[in-house]
Amino acid sequence: MALSALPLGTWCHTLMLSGRPACRDHPYVGCPLKPRLVRPDACVTGTSRAPPRRRRAPPFAEPTAHLHPAPQAPRRIPQDSAPAGRFFAGGITVKEILDAIQSQDAQSADFAALPLPDSYRAITVHKDETEMFAGLDTRDKDPRKSLHLDDVPVPELGPGEALVAVMASSVNYNSVWTSIFEPLSTFGFLERYGKVSELTKRHDLPYHVIGSDLAGVVLRTGPGVNSWKPGDEVVAHCLSVELESSDGHNDTMLDPEQRIWGFETNFGGLAEIALVKSNQLMPKPGHLSWEEAAAPGLVNSTAYRQLVSRNGADMKQGDNVLIWGASGGLGSYATQFALAGGANPICVVSSEQKADICRSMGAEAIIDRSAEGYRFWKDERTQDPKEWKRFGKRIREFTGGEDIDIVFEHPGRETFGASVYVTRKGGTITTCASTSGYMHEYDNRYLWMSLKRIIGSHFANYREAWEANRLISSMTALGRVDAAVVEPVVQRAVPTPMFGSRRASRRRARTGCHLAGAGARRSPPESGT
Ligand SMILES: NC(=O)c1ccc[n+]([C@@H]2O[C@H](COP(=O)([O-])OP(=O)(O)OC[C@H]3O[C@@H](n4cnc5c(N)ncnc54)[C@H](OP(=O)(O)O)[C@@H]3O)[C@@H](O)[C@H]2O)c1
Repeated sequence: MALSALPLGTWCHTLMLSGRPACRDHPYVGCPLKPRLVRPDACVTGTSRAPPRRRRAPPFAEPTAHLHPAPQAPRRIPQDSAPAGRFFAGGITVKEILDAIQSQDAQSADFAALPLPDSYRAITVHKDETEMFAGLDTRDKDPRKSLHLDDVPVPELGPGEALVAVMASSVNYNSVWTSIFEPLSTFGFLERYGKVSELTKRHDLPYHVIGSDLAGVVLRTGPGVNSWKPGDEVVAHCLSVELESSDGHNDTMLDPEQRIWGFETNFGGLAEIALVKSNQLMPKPGHLSWEEAAAPGLVNSTAYRQLVSRNGADMKQGDNVLIWGASGGLGSYATQFALAGGANPICVVSSEQKADICRSMGAEAIIDRSAEGYRFWKDERTQDPKEWKRFGKRIREFTGGEDIDIVFEHPGRETFGASVYVTRKGGTITTCASTSGYMHEYDNRYLWMSLKRIIGSHFANYREAWEANRLISSMTALGRVDAAVVEPVVQRAVPTPMFGSRRASRRRARTGCHLAGAGARRSPPESGT
């Protein structure tokens, strides 16, 4: 059943459209604040009476047929069942897992002894629907029609893997791309991954459990996992690598079998249970709620590599950093990194409300691109260098006449010409996306004559993700909560029918609806989205 027909459709609508008309750049995500989910308060009202059934733990060298049973269709959850928050025909309910998590005294052994449910609820897209939007314009492709709430089997656990009870997840842009099957259907990724090994065949299914963030509790670890154990409170970054080739051993992002978990692999985080590789796990920052902990993973790590890491722009003190979308998912972390690292962020946003978010993060140099009316394109094919110049002149007002050392790029086609132009001689444009279009055009004379560099950046390796996570938690581990270098960005916490509960609702009431922006800190502005 499509989400639009479920109460979950409300969730989807809230997250994807954010209650405002779709704009040209963000037809679904509700221009342009980053939607953040979620309260997978896993089935707190679960009422299954079926006797618990212990699932057999797979041995290390399980016969492959056992690891990947014949693909089967997910069981669609009837509309009136979804809000009830229970779902297992046999075996333990997710509620029992949640009870263990919420009891203060459950030890690792208790979690290890918990039987696993046979199945769990998950947000999916279906392989037999990948053509459903054929011929439609991007902005007319409605994720509410393609996303489903399904009951799916718990995948077998392989070597080096972990099953995690998901307490909260988040919605990233890749969930949007997946749900509209653009630029490609993700089932092609799953088919290719399924060909890598007998173990990876599990991922090639007629449904795709999406989601690339989670905060939760380890339930099981597979053979060869020594650093994590059942009961550990964790967050997961979304880099999945095989690392059998030498190529990835300097930088795991260069592994030929590098994938984004929950996008290019199955069993993602928008679910009650997720399957990850153990080298995706990181400690949950102890001072954060589940929702706060689930929000940063993908965007925080991506922004860290793109801006701070030597693999990205290698930012240093004093750098003038132009940050597009500075209150958004990536941009709000980039802004915090720039501020904490002694750089000078020049934040570009499109409303006063978003400017306020940047201010509350501590930024002072803010350009409201809407209010100032930049039009870098005269028409669909022709850029306007006069507008680049006007933009560059405005930037210099914030830099004492200097140009930009690093441009933090992701809007793509619409802004790339301006980004190349305003970068100083020898400066860097670092890009990880093309939200407004991936066919970039810029005047190459401004690049080569001024010895500028364009650096492609994509997610982050484990070390970078770990360092980004450490910036949220390291000081707090010493008891200095106020000294965290980076604070999580939560636009809003949304209980879903899948995980919904009164508790979750109260939490939402208490936290209010956040605009994206760690700047919101302890007193977030009300959402206007
Ligand atoms: N490669 C990777 O590993 C990776 C990782 C994460 C995200 N991404 C990609 O990065 C992009 C941004 O992700 P996000 O999570 O930061 O999204 P987001 O939360 O929606 O923020 C993007 C921001 O960019 C600005 N923006 C969008 N279109 C623009 C345009 N045409 N001109 C100028 N500014 C524009 C908007 O800010 P204002 O309207 O306030 O200016 C918006 O808030 C997406 O395409 C996503 O898929 C890539």
